[in-house]
Amino acid sequence: MSGSGRPPALTLVAAVGANGVIGSDGGLPWRLKSDMKHFRAVTMGKPVVMGRKTYLSLPGPLKGRTNIVVSRDPDFTAPGILAARTLNAALDAARGDALRRGADAIAVIGGADIYQQVIAGADSLVITHVQISPKGDRTFPPIDSAVWIEAAREEHQPGPDDDASFSVVTYTRR
Ligand SMILES: NC(=O)c1ccc[n+]([C@@H]2O[C@H](COP(=O)([O-])OP(=O)(O)OC[C@H]3O[C@@H](n4cnc5c(N)ncnc54)[C@H](OP(=O)(O)O)[C@@H]3O)[C@@H](O)[C@H]2O)c1
Repeated sequence: MSGSGRPPALTLVAAVGANGVIGSDGGLPWRLKSDMKHFRAVTMGKPVVMGRKTYLSLPGPLKGRTNIVVSRDPDFTAPGILAARTLNAALDAARGDALRRGADAIAVIGGADIYQQVIAGADSLVITHVQISPKGDRTFPPIDSAVWIEAAREEHQPGPDDDASFSVVTYTRR
């Protein structure tokens, strides 16, 4: 059971440029070390669900988290991950993992393809709004203010290894 006794929440975690861009050429369009720390803290101990392309952009599985990677390729597998052939299978596996670990949420960590498919069923969004508009080829779906309301906001000035200032905003459903 999760700590609260409720089923785990479905949370999208993303860093989004002022123009909606989240990715470029298979990677991130900025250097933002402070956000990597924030990402680690927000996702630690939770199952993380991601698309194959996002997984391949990482140096390897994220430590301390069950990595569930979605691919339609029946041969896709990698050490240290759980491969799922459908998004529903991935979310089912994540729910089971969260219940076993006592985690209160499942973190859906991208990329664009996955966010687009999952946002309609999400309970919350944890968005790092990066205050630059980089060139890129992947975007986050629009955050509809008729659906989502800001529940918390933290402003961050850039640290020595950050390309820009950023705000971390948690959205919940109205
Ligand atoms: N800024 C951020 O917060 C952030 C976060 C994550 C990623 N990114 C960036 O986003 C980009 C990657 O995003 P992307 O949209 O190209 O790819 P993606 O969402 O990471 O992965 C797409 C792949 O996932 C699999 N997939 C998608 N839907 C599926 C479904 N319903 N059932 C089974 N498999 C499914 C397919 O894999 P197969 O082709 O193997 O079938 C598909 O090609 C990169 O640039 C990355 O750096 C940014």
